[in-house]
Amino acid sequence: MSNPTQPIEPIQISHDTLQKILDNSSDEIFVVDGSQRIVYVNHACERHYGLKPAEVIGRNTMELFEEGYWTPSIIPPVFERKKTVTMKQTTYLGGELITTAVPILNQAGDIELVVINSKELQNYKSLEIKDAQTGQPADPDAPEANLITNSEKMESVIKFCKKIASVDSTVLIQGESGTGKSVLAKYIHKMSRRKKGPLLTINCAAIPEELLESELFGYAQGAFTGASKTGKVGLIESADNGTLFLDEVGEISPKIQAKLLQVIQDHEFIPVGGRETKKVDIRIIAATNRNLYDMVQNRQFREDLYYRLNVIDIKIPSLRERTKDIIPLTYYFLHKFNKQYGVNQLISQATLDIFSAYSWPGNLRQLENLIEKLVVTTDSVIEASDLPEHMLQHTKARTPSASLPAALDDALAEVEKQLVTAAYQKLGSTRRVAEHLQISQTKAARLIRKYGGSSGEPPY
Ligand SMILES: Nc1ncnc2c1ncn2[C@@H]1O[C@H](COP(=O)(O)OP(=O)(O)O)[C@@H](O)[C@H]1O
Ligand SMILES: [Mg+2]
Repeated sequence: MSNPTQPIEPIQISHDTLQKILDNSSDEIFVVDGSQRIVYVNHACERHYGLKPAEVIGRNTMELFEEGYWTPSIIPPVFERKKTVTMKQTTYLGGELITTAVPILNQAGDIELVVINSKELQNYKSLEIKDAQTGQPADPDAPEANLITNSEKMESVIKFCKKIASVDSTVLIQGESGTGKSVLAKYIHKMSRRKKGPLLTINCAAIPEELLESELFGYAQGAFTGASKTGKVGLIESADNGTLFLDEVGEISPKIQAKLLQVIQDHEFIPVGGRETKKVDIRIIAATNRNLYDMVQNRQFREDLYYRLNVIDIKIPSLRERTKDIIPLTYYFLHKFNKQYGVNQLISQATLDIFSAYSWPGNLRQLENLIEKLVVTTDSVIEASDLPEHMLQHTKARTPSASLPAALDDALAEVEKQLVTAAYQKLGSTRRVAEHLQISQTKAARLIRKYGGSSGEPPY
């Protein structure tokens, strides 16, 4: 029992401590002012939207809402009612939040601040995700449902796809394996007037030539020994009024290249072993991870077909060319697999740092597969030590060639920077850095200043 005569010592909490408390709150804390400008957000922001607090603070909250980071917005009802509002929200990374907004009014009764608190729903399995606007269950087939991005490069690719979706021209999507070529092909189809028609996909690399030919063009009755008596309808015919997606188009043989050219030019084809031409109305989207232009130069791919396919040319950047996507995608895949496996794994900052610096040769597919494995195999928090050894080494030994700088000077500057900052951190003085790197002390001091090591220390 406390002694009632003894006054309790008030505990002073410093600004730093308060900051720590807020940033370590597992809930998101989000504060807007009377003009709906974001004045504060804690670290949970990054987990929920893939955005750092610094990218968010100072912006108008409705602007971010309109960019689609979460839905619905709790702001209009709070400002309208000036009372506490609670609602369920979904983030574009697939998280589900229970959000409460508490308005703080000034003496005149106007809103001074709104303190918003968002908690992640943990028990994903028992919940049905509803679309905030319609109240209907969210449509996993919505065109943009599986397209996560936070990079300008990728945003402009998506914008371009939206624009060209409505025309019927053939599209060639080029990009490394795992960058999202199949996802974009689906997006273009879903945004096109053919969306009610079929989207049929064939991976041209996965099937032997003869089989590929009959899969694509079908065959006539008794076309070859063993062929079915009734013949077979090919994908080109089945895709009538829809879209045919030819994945790995760089792998098709010269014979099929010629037949494909006819389909694109004349909208007609002859089934294997058949006599009559058949008409079709299809749009072709082709994809490849090879450099088709080089293949044309080396006479491995028909030039005329190349130009026919290439009417609309889309290049998807690799993940290392859009590093801003790494963190949002990490959380997107984490949410996805947490939900799928009914768990609630977290991810450490050290792991995120390694992810950001890693070169991802297998692009999004590698990231996705890795996160699935980690969600299943680690307990509660995905730590750097859970990552495969080669990833840690790759990240440590990341040389300029990994990020392919455009110019030699950039590459040299990068090496110089790494050497100078590492030496300065370790040795701590310009003299020792100069000795170690065998340069003059003046030069050492200049370089240390240049790369942000220190600006104050005199060179001598
Ligand atoms: N923008 C994106 N947002 C979320 N997931 C993506 C995105 N792009 C690709 N993916 C996922 O990454 C994986 C690889 O994409 P995919 O389209 O199959 O690549 P590609 O066809 O270029 O090899 C797939 O599981 C896909 O769902
Ligand atoms: Mg693919």
